Amino acid sequence: MNRTQVKKGFLEPDSSTGRLYAEASKYIPGGTSRIHYYFKPYPIYAQSGEGCYLTDVEGTRRLDFLNNMTALIHGHGNPGIKKALFDQIERGTAFSEPSEPEIRLARLMIERVKSLEKIRFSNSGTEAVMMAIKLARAFTGRSRIAKFEGFYHGYYDYVQVSFSSTPANWGPPEAPASTPSSGGLADSVLGDVLVMPFNDQKAVEKLLEQHGKVIAALILDPLSNRGGFPLPAEGFFKFLREITRAYGILTIYDEVISFRVDHGGAQAKYGGDPDLTTFGKIMGGGLPVGAVGGKAEVMDLLDPSQGPPKVISGGTASANPLTMAAGLAAMEQMTPSVYARINRLGDLLRKKSNEVFAAAGEPAQLTGEGSLFRLLMTADPVVDYRSSIRKASPQDRFNRLHHNLLEEGIIISKEGLGCLSTPMGEAEVEDFVKALERGVARMPKG
Ligand SMILES: Cc1ncc(COP(=O)(O)O)c(C=O)c1O
Repeated sequence: MNRTQVKKGFLEPDSSTGRLYAEASKYIPGGTSRIHYYFKPYPIYAQSGEGCYLTDVEGTRRLDFLNNMTALIHGHGNPGIKKALFDQIERGTAFSEPSEPEIRLARLMIERVKSLEKIRFSNSGTEAVMMAIKLARAFTGRSRIAKFEGFYHGYYDYVQVSFSSTPANWGPPEAPASTPSSGGLADSVLGDVLVMPFNDQKAVEKLLEQHGKVIAALILDPLSNRGGFPLPAEGFFKFLREITRAYGILTIYDEVISFRVDHGGAQAKYGGDPDLTTFGKIMGGGLPVGAVGGKAEVMDLLDPSQGPPKVISGGTASANPLTMAAGLAAMEQMTPSVYARINRLGDLLRKKSNEVFAAAGEPAQLTGEGSLFRLLMTADPVVDYRSSIRKASPQDRFNRLHHNLLEEGIIISKEGLGCLSTPMGEAEVEDFVKALERGVARMPKG
């Protein structure tokens, strides 16, 4: 049975979606406050969400395989999260004072993620990354950072570098160019960021030989969505940890997305023992959130109890009690067996979807781990950003498939990111695979 229900096409001339987008465009640049949810000619508009379904303003009900860009691990309207939120609303929505849910969420995270000794909350993954980089600079007395090509870490200046490089500007593979991924970066930013190729031990060795002594931190996403979800080569993270220690560089794991794959984070799965880790998304139970955690000797640079702290971080809404309560309710439900269940469903979804592509002769694949997946229009193995770039098919072909999936009742991101949520089971995986089969069958012959 197909449990999705497409009532009216959102592209029909008199659609509510078209009207809303025209109205939004009068007040908001391009009608959108988030680059990630815009696609041509306009995005669908959410009306409501229930479990693993999202209903748009046309009354069309689709399976939500995006879940606010992977943040809603329990889908929509999880009863435990709702109760925690209602209870907290009764007690108060925001205070100038700290409150107990903050301590409880901090303890939970430190108990789960082995490399954490202390944690500090913020309002977004971007803020967390910014705080982590400042901590690393203050700790090491150095200002430059290193990152991997194609990896996304939010929109702080120093990480808006080389996450969208193209063959026209990306330079040699063993020494990728530092390219701006946004306008508005200060002139000095590109020179302050060393860009390295993922999974290339020799190139990293050579680049750090030249620059390692002036680098404060290497930031990496252990499972990078934007990089195409390449898995680390055998021994690569161990090598990174050893070489960063040798040069006095702090290692920052950006687990804003990858915390989805294991109770102890991707670091429990792939190793690495980072000095600092950033979090966001699922940790907030659906509310805006971020956090930096790590070794006490670095985190204590934020400590105001011993005189003015070396690193200042504030935020009117940081550790907001509503977020802390929702996050706690979401994370307490994420027991190891719950992770194992949705991770198995993710494996099944990838396997069956890749069979669909192979049977149809479509040069595409689903990469990813656990409950995370990414649809890439290349059948080649993905080891880094460059190998994840669509070679065989133009962007238009992906856009067509994305649109076909929407028409078949499935939501994934306009860049191919998708994820499962805990209300899903094998029936929803089956619905996805069947919709993909129909969507692929409707593709023009390549
Ligand atoms: C790996 C990673 N880091 C950082 C961020 C930024 O988080 P936020 O969007 O909460 O600012 C994102 C957002 O998608 C991300 O995927």
